[in-house]
Amino acid sequence: MMYTLQLAVIFMVGKLNEAFSQAVKSDFVLLKAPYTFPGNASLCETAEWRKSFPIVFIAKYQNPIFRIEEGFREEFTWKENHLLLNSAKYTDRGRYEFVCNGVEKSLKLDVLYAINKHAAEMDNITLDCHADNANDVTWLHNNERVLQYKKDGSINPGKGYEGRVSLEKNCFKTGDISLTITGVRKTDAGIYRCFVDDGTTKGDPHTYDLSHVNEKRSSPGNQTDSNFNEALSLIIYKCLTIVFVIITCILMLVIVIPKLNCQSTSPTATYHVPMSNGVLLSPSQSMVNHPVQESDTTENKPSNTTPF
Ligand SMILES: *[C@@H]1O[C@H](CO)[C@@H](O)[C@H](O)[C@H]1NC(C)=O
Repeated sequence: MMYTLQLAVIFMVGKLNEAFSQAVKSDFVLLKAPYTFPGNASLCETAEWRKSFPIVFIAKYQNPIFRIEEGFREEFTWKENHLLLNSAKYTDRGRYEFVCNGVEKSLKLDVLYAINKHAAEMDNITLDCHADNANDVTWLHNNERVLQYKKDGSINPGKGYEGRVSLEKNCFKTGDISLTITGVRKTDAGIYRCFVDDGTTKGDPHTYDLSHVNEKRSSPGNQTDSNFNEALSLIIYKCLTIVFVIITCILMLVIVIPKLNCQSTSPTATYHVPMSNGVLLSPSQSMVNHPVQESDTTENKPSNTTPF
């Protein structure tokens, strides 16, 4: 009899907890990021925001006047009928209540330190996470499911993640519940969180901030293009240089060398002149002295040839 009563009490407490946890919305904000609380005061005649526990009043609204309590005015502002936390601190974690016309809504706010992650389109990335004694793993992208994997083997990928998310095969044995995403897309940008035990326990590390997915690796592609262009222009430059050298050579052959020939024929013209005049050698033509002397020997040659 006592036993069944105990069971009934446990059952009822369990149900109550369930109802309570369902009623409490939970949300998160990254450290140092702003956070807008969900309650919209324009729909209320009176409203108040408080943090519990212990209960402290943060702000009050009495249509149309909004007032932030003393001591919170640096931290909070009023923006478009909402309460805004300017820059989240670790001590801002906790439970908040929004009471609108007497109706209370609760929010469990978590402040998370995120590891920054960078990726380009079509990259494969791995987000490390570890947990021991896990029975299931849940990865969330912002507030949407990326992947849920249970010890019994059931796999439940989120919309848009089918076929491109994976975990280690032995993840429950090793505690390595790192998530691998293949073929990263622009729409994958956002906050990733790692959970175990039906989303109740955080894996370690818990949060990643993939704030931006860069364009498909077109920048390195452009780089090879520009490298190619550079190489091409270098080749063209070298070719032009070679062509210039060849043209210069041809010009030398066509114009300069015949002139040299002319100059070399002119001494031969004077070759005989000193011979005939004997004295008319200018100093510049003194070089021709030797041929002149040689001409003596050449003159002897014909004499040698005369016996023929
Ligand atoms: C708050 O509610 C009013 C009235 O419904 C609406 O016009 C306004 O856009 C809401 N503000 C925000 C930020 O949702």
